[in-house]
Amino acid sequence: MQVASYLPDRNLAMELVRVTEAAAISAARVKGRGNKEVVDQAAVDAMRQVLSGTSLTGTVIIGEGEKDEAPMLYNGEVVGNGQLPEVDVAVDPVDGTRLTAEGRGGALAVIAVAEKNSMYAPGSLVYMDKLAVGEAAAGTVDINAPVEYNLAQVAKAKDKPVSAVTAVVLDRPRNQPYIEAIRAAGARITLIGDGDIQGSITAASSGFGADILLGIGGSPEAVTSACAMAALRGEIQCKLWPRDESEREYAMEHGLDLDQVLTTRDLVNSDDTFFAATGVTTGSMLKGVRFGGVHTTTHSVVMRGRSGTIRFIEADHRVEWVGDETGA
Ligand code: FBP
Repeated sequence: MQVASYLPDRNLAMELVRVTEAAAISAARVKGRGNKEVVDQAAVDAMRQVLSGTSLTGTVIIGEGEKDEAPMLYNGEVVGNGQLPEVDVAVDPVDGTRLTAEGRGGALAVIAVAEKNSMYAPGSLVYMDKLAVGEAAAGTVDINAPVEYNLAQVAKAKDKPVSAVTAVVLDRPRNQPYIEAIRAAGARITLIGDGDIQGSITAASSGFGADILLGIGGSPEAVTSACAMAALRGEIQCKLWPRDESEREYAMEHGLDLDQVLTTRDLVNSDDTFFAATGVTTGSMLKGVRFGGVHTTTHSVVMRGRSGTIRFIEADHRVEWVGDETGA
């Protein structure tokens, strides 16, 4: 009986959205000031405060880094109010800190939770090569296959020509070979400055004008995205991507296989995943925080892996409750 109570028996994501709403509001208050650290700190402080009252006992698997560098929400930190269920936690207080600091669109506050001991801990290898698709193309793609093949598979699954397939790619020099291969195949590209969690989700959903995410991005973001993939019934495939020889050696020493394809299940081995994200600044999926009058308005997405339920929630928060746009 006790074992069962360790499993989440309610939709935790409905509670977790309060955490991302608070983080997004705090981060939005310092938008455009040009300071990434200020953005991150604002979101971390708010997230941690709301998490402390959330009914769960969570171990941060994907956090701000190791304790010495991150005073809060560090890997291994225990969060929540100490009640059951016991869960693994992935946080990205702002996926798109630079976007927010520069006053650009597309930043999200994100949290994901899954059954205890189910999340992959990427350790010091901070990048992964990624491929994400939605339900229609899930099971038909292969990260080891040429880009052209995967684009053709997505086109076939979605019953449209390759020229109508849009690939989302993080705009980085390391992803240039992807960009060239996608163009050579005749598909379309949406280049994003930052924020490949939103990139994977839009690629795995319908209605956001994206069909596949390709390219090298953050490892923590891959695990967090996998929690959403479970609900979307999409698929993410990843491979650890060492930046240099010392990271290759690190992988060897720690028995990490750089050729292994990490599937959605490898990244989060559970159906009991919960995902919540709130727009900080307006992007392709979520509107950013809007301050004004007696309300501050947030736009969030909430997902549950087991049921596959996806909810979009627009919330008006009274300023006497969440503070006004200055934080007062
Ligand atoms: P943060 O805002 O959390 O730092 O991440 C932004 C982001 O663009 C992620 O979405 C992406 O996975 C990662 O950074 C890519 O890393 P880098 O900016 O070093 O290329």
